Amino acid sequence: MKSSAPGKIILFGEHAVVYGRPALAVPVTQVQADVDISDSSRAGIWIDAPAIRLHAELNTLPSDHPIAAVIHNFLFLLRVAPFPNLEIKISSTIPVASGLGSGAAVTVALTRALAAHLGRPMNDEEVNAFAYEIEKLYHGTPSGIDNTVVTYARPVYFIKGQLMETFKVGQPFTIVIADTGIPAPTKESVSDVRRLWMNHRAPWESVFDKIGEISFTARRAIEAGKYELLGELMNENHTLLQKLTISSPELDYLVEAARSAGALGAKLSGGGRGGNMIALVEPELAEVVADSLEEAGAKNTLIAQVS
Ligand code: PMV
Repeated sequence: MKSSAPGKIILFGEHAVVYGRPALAVPVTQVQADVDISDSSRAGIWIDAPAIRLHAELNTLPSDHPIAAVIHNFLFLLRVAPFPNLEIKISSTIPVASGLGSGAAVTVALTRALAAHLGRPMNDEEVNAFAYEIEKLYHGTPSGIDNTVVTYARPVYFIKGQLMETFKVGQPFTIVIADTGIPAPTKESVSDVRRLWMNHRAPWESVFDKIGEISFTARRAIEAGKYELLGELMNENHTLLQKLTISSPELDYLVEAARSAGALGAKLSGGGRGGNMIALVEPELAEVVADSLEEAGAKNTLIAQVS
């Protein structure tokens, strides 16, 4: 049984989303995680994930291994007994630890493939709830936006614990995603922001409010196809993320490079301090902006159409 799930990128609202403000994220379908499950003639559950050089039987993995955790939790939750003999092949083109949701995509694709193969179908809501539990094991206090956008594979307007709406893109738009090459320490940056907020809530609440308003306005701009406005909103959001201390010299440099090369706007995306930045571009400028980002030190760039 085969299943796949796309990458994702946060367009607006990272960090503020942890504090109940809205955020926007979209799937990145150019990259994806694939899982293929078949019955095995040998005993055990064999996992083959060449990209991370993993070839092992489930019970030889530490129980906190992310892939083992998905399988153990799934079998436990659905009371699958005795354990089936399986071959599980996992591959992914989503760069790891850069804010493209590789972990969530593997979790979602693996969950769906297990559900289908074992004849225990799960709907999107159930897959999403399960994937969120797994995210919590690895990311401290995640908002749940990653697993949500990856599960539904649609643009998502998200308020933690309250609202999840998919929405329509007025006119397709193009973003360039550039990787600093520095792993994004999301758990650390989330807890650093929490420390700031705990010490002095009022000023940070007001930063979160401003970011939330940007997400709200950005959704309207995307629905109406107002992309100049969307670019400005990206720039404003980046400034607020700098205030939250989660940008870095490398991210700021790439953001500046994208703007100088003609992007309509640019910001860091995701946990920050490393990982990715995104730039909104006119389609005909996408290559030029991507080249400038590589010249400015980006380790990898991706041009994504959002529709
Ligand atoms: O680094 P990413 O793309 O997985 O995003 C992290 C987003 C945060 O808002 C910082 C944390 C969260 O759980 O939403």
